[in-house]
Amino acid sequence: MKELKIGVVGTGFIGGRHMDAIGRIPGAKVVAVADPFIEKARGIAEGLGANAYSSVDEMLEKEELDVVHNCTPTNMHYEVDAKAIKAGKHLYCEKPLSLDAKEGEALVALLKEHPVANGVNLNYRMNALVQDMHEQVQKKKTGRSFLVTGSYVQDWMMNKDDYDWRLDPKNGGASRAIADIGSHLFDTSQYVLGKKITAVNAHLMVMHPVRLRYEKTGGTFAKAKGKLLGEIRVVNEDAASIMARFEDGTEALFQVSQISAGHKNDMRIRFDFETCSLEWRQEENNLLYIGHRDEPNQIKHREAGALEAEAAAFTDLPAGHPEGWNDVLYQAIRAFYESIRTGSYKKGKVPYATVAEGAWIMKIIEACLASDACGRWVDVQTGIS
Ligand SMILES: NC(=O)c1ccc[n+]([C@@H]2O[C@H](COP(=O)([O-])OP(=O)(O)OC[C@H]3O[C@@H](n4cnc5c(N)ncnc54)[C@H](O)[C@@H]3O)[C@@H](O)[C@H]2O)c1
Repeated sequence: MKELKIGVVGTGFIGGRHMDAIGRIPGAKVVAVADPFIEKARGIAEGLGANAYSSVDEMLEKEELDVVHNCTPTNMHYEVDAKAIKAGKHLYCEKPLSLDAKEGEALVALLKEHPVANGVNLNYRMNALVQDMHEQVQKKKTGRSFLVTGSYVQDWMMNKDDYDWRLDPKNGGASRAIADIGSHLFDTSQYVLGKKITAVNAHLMVMHPVRLRYEKTGGTFAKAKGKLLGEIRVVNEDAASIMARFEDGTEALFQVSQISAGHKNDMRIRFDFETCSLEWRQEENNLLYIGHRDEPNQIKHREAGALEAEAAAFTDLPAGHPEGWNDVLYQAIRAFYESIRTGSYKKGKVPYATVAEGAWIMKIIEACLASDACGRWVDVQTGIS
């Protein structure tokens, strides 16, 4: 088996998690890391026996890479992605795909000229039980879809002095909570139903119109704030309520928040079908709650024998040995590399989210912003209310 040579760009919170996951995959090795914080990059590279660079350009020039992982802040996604694609490298990019829908569309166009394998780390769909829901729907075991109800709430931006680069629209985009975590609800629900979200009606909320800005160099979720630099006016949302409609007419209600005390990474999503309901909760991600009308409800535990055959490929441990968030990220990256090795990415049927799917989610996010501005439903494709 030819070893896949990997370059990781961005060594913050998620970059570190990518490197851990890659280390678990046979036949893949991180050979280069790039980050403008060169001292940090050097320290990480040394531990991995890799080379460190302060820029993606230098990394692409000096290394013979197979795959680039883009783990930079959102404002750098397009630039790094475009460079990797043009250099003919397979690309695994963090979500949200880009700063706005225009950049997303430009990446889709670029991939037509340079058809490399491309994935966006909308990782929750890679949980074995989410895959199981997807398979049940694909096999028409659940009957007609009635409703979707989802929430993704966190508390890490709850206080006025919680600061992060995502607060600056130039770095994080015009949307914050929706782009950062709502994107996962959109992807997971679209993937399970196999249908696109085509219209939204959203209301966005800013709880702290003014926040304190800190130096904060430790990465997302770091407790150390560093030096106080002053006040900033907040323009992107702390929370949002979103009604959404899928292409088959199914309606959804989503809530996202980064200011909900005690909720750390609390994503829940429930699908109401003709024959049953299915609910998955990220913080209890080894369980699937199955609701019935006329018989006892069930809890399905993540274990290969209990899952749809295709979903069983996304779990390694026997029942009673919990798998967690890191394991799901590992499954996502493993599946991406497998599609490179087998060439299945060329046929277009892959379990992970592609750049085209990430670009559609950017359009959903922009439709939410447009809906909030006009107070009406907005069509995702046209942006018209
Ligand atoms: N899929 C998930 O569950 C998940 C979770 C967290 C973050 N993310 C996404 O990952 C991305 C990064 O977020 P994070 O939380 O790791 O941020 P972070 O602030 O912790 O880390 C970002 C890193 O990128 C580096 N960087 C900045 N500019 C760069 C450049 N030009 N070239 C190379 N490196 C550069 C920074 O120095 C820092 O080390 C964001 O787009 C975010 O939405 C995804």
